[in-house]
Amino acid sequence: MTPNYETRGNVAVITLNNPPVNGLGYATRVALAEGLAAAQLDPAVKAIVITGAGKAFSGGADINEFGSPKASAEPNLLTVILALESSSKPTIAAVHSVCMGGGLELALGCNYRVAAPGALVALPEVKIGLLPGAGGTQRLPRVLGVENALNMIVSGAPVKSEALAKIPGQKLFDRIVEGDLMQGALAFAAEVADKRPLPLVRNLRADHPNPDAYFQFARNTVGAMSRNFPAPLKCVDAVAASVSRRFDDGLRHERELFAGLMFTPESKALRHTFMAERATNKIPDIPADTPLRTISSVAVIGAGTMGGGIAMNFLNAGIPVTVLETSQAALDKGIGVVRKNYEAQVTKGKLTPDKLDKRMTLLRTTLDYADLKDADLVIEAVFEEMGVKETVFRKLDAVMKPGAILASNTSTLDLNRIAAFTKRPQDVIGLHFFSPANVMRLLEVVRGEKTAKDVLASVMALGKTIKKTCVVSGVCDGFIGNRMIEQYSRQAGFLLEEGCTPAQVDQALERFGMAMGPFRMGDLAGNDIGWAIRKRRYVERPDVRYSKTADLLCEMGRYGQKTGAGWYDYKPGKRDAIASPVVVEMIEKHRAAKGITPRKIGDEEIVHRLVFALVNEGAKIVEEGIALRASDIDIVYLTGYGFPAHRGGPMCYADSVGLYNVVAAMQRFAQNPLDDVGFWKPAPLLARLAAERKSFT
Ligand SMILES: NC(=O)c1ccc[n+]([C@@H]2O[C@H](COP(=O)([O-])OP(=O)(O)OC[C@H]3O[C@@H](n4cnc5c(N)ncnc54)[C@H](O)[C@@H]3O)[C@@H](O)[C@H]2O)c1
Repeated sequence: MTPNYETRGNVAVITLNNPPVNGLGYATRVALAEGLAAAQLDPAVKAIVITGAGKAFSGGADINEFGSPKASAEPNLLTVILALESSSKPTIAAVHSVCMGGGLELALGCNYRVAAPGALVALPEVKIGLLPGAGGTQRLPRVLGVENALNMIVSGAPVKSEALAKIPGQKLFDRIVEGDLMQGALAFAAEVADKRPLPLVRNLRADHPNPDAYFQFARNTVGAMSRNFPAPLKCVDAVAASVSRRFDDGLRHERELFAGLMFTPESKALRHTFMAERATNKIPDIPADTPLRTISSVAVIGAGTMGGGIAMNFLNAGIPVTVLETSQAALDKGIGVVRKNYEAQVTKGKLTPDKLDKRMTLLRTTLDYADLKDADLVIEAVFEEMGVKETVFRKLDAVMKPGAILASNTSTLDLNRIAAFTKRPQDVIGLHFFSPANVMRLLEVVRGEKTAKDVLASVMALGKTIKKTCVVSGVCDGFIGNRMIEQYSRQAGFLLEEGCTPAQVDQALERFGMAMGPFRMGDLAGNDIGWAIRKRRYVERPDVRYSKTADLLCEMGRYGQKTGAGWYDYKPGKRDAIASPVVVEMIEKHRAAKGITPRKIGDEEIVHRLVFALVNEGAKIVEEGIALRASDIDIVYLTGYGFPAHRGGPMCYADSVGLYNVVAAMQRFAQNPLDDVGFWKPAPLLARLAAERKSFT
């Protein structure tokens, strides 16, 4: 007998027990199959209730088994569901909290389902580039109707149990149990114990009055919305089979479609991302049970572009914020922007006026450091100058209470130096938000030489509260994301010198899937930012060459959208990038002055020179320990730099190309006589992995 099997009167209760969400891993499936078999053999048992321990009925497949032979080892989910369907005694799923993926498919194999209100029900497989592979696409349409089921399967979005129970004619839930679910399930079991025949979802029909037209419409809509992803359209095909084919044929078709998706690069990329996101929180030398510092009030220094956005993150989470500036005018301006941002959300119906008021009352302003002394966390977002940072951190050190966390939003400055301005470097950390800080998911958490472990752990936990994806970075110029983007931008500049136009480079990268090509991105962020960084580099690192084109552009006053002109022209008030003859002429003149004969450069070379520039720098970042793992770099690029989700990030993309192919391409690029700076020397880690025919992941 398994420990999760018990009898209550004449009802056998089988409890899935695999924390945290009762994933249907091998051991859980074995326990379930054994429990079912035991219940069949026990003459005293009249009905079987299946439920989940703790926080879920079941969250579906066990992610720790992804891709391992255990995932499909017998008893697999399909055969467990068959065993359920063959039960001679009524089976009742008692659903609560979370019922997703394989968990829902399991419940659909039961004769009956009762649910607690508020349970989140979903078939989310599409989010990892798959479709439900254990009958979900065949059974859900039979209980919810084709259209409701298709919407759930194609979106993967969870729906609450009580909302599903209200769908007219639905057969998903036989009862919503208010109060104690197990009591309700046992009472229901008593009612149906002797009822025969036992109902099976597979015996219902999935009907639609006009299936051909409906599925054509669905294919058009879904196809348009999921350009780079094959799974959503396959979901439509599978659900269509629930109408057009007999149950077992439909099941077989679902299986074929599932197997086909399993090997697509898109699904591999999405599964990689799913695992990579979870990995970002694991910091090898920081145990999960590290005691955390309480953070229930926050101060922000500087109410400029970043300060206001940073403050909004905490206000949104109900955490009070005090903002400090150098003048009342600067405060008024900054707070005005915060209010305007919230008002725009109200206009769009995304925020109620009531909530706007609540958030604004959590926001206080001051010109006096003494007002910040009790804050648990202070985040500095003043000008990017070491002298200014020094003044601010010395003041903070003088006033902040012991144990307060002192953070800097610096993008490029040495955090260890900033920490050294204080007598408490262990309490100093970098919190590198991305602009707009209230929108962008990425937060690079910069761990200084002396940052205390509990400070890092506390900030990682806080990141979750404010709904950020946190990635830990060591201290280096540009941290993970910007250090890599510099190499990407350098290549983009060289491409202009060799024969490309900005539009040609941007279009190649956008066809690859980047949200924006490098030149459109420059125009959005402000070309003057890179200019300032390069001016510093020309002094500090004269060996690093950049194309002069970007400097020439800035000398023309073309800083980007904010000046109405950059790599492109812009109409007043519009963001559409219009190719600029002036810029093209500037580039041509520059080429002529350097004596370069332009050549035609294809999309593949453009994309690979830019992306492999990222990959090579990424490999150095991993080897130096700046990033904890290659997959962290992918998360930085997916959440902060518009890297295409279906490629899984630059490092995952390099793996999918094959690292030995990446190195071979770099060797070809190195033959270019215009590469006079030895740009394409493979990073030692990349060279080693390629030689050993290994991958980053
Ligand atoms: N803008 C971005 O995209 C971005 C992204 C990530 C990080 N950062 C970093 O964030 C920081 C702020 O950048 P920003 O773009 O918000 O600059 P900003 O110029 O828009 O705002 C800076 C604000 O700080 C105030 N300030 C200056 N000195 C001060 C002092 N001694 N005390 C209090 N307030 C002071 C200024 O009045 C101004 O309002 C910089 O370190 C920058 O590198 C910027």
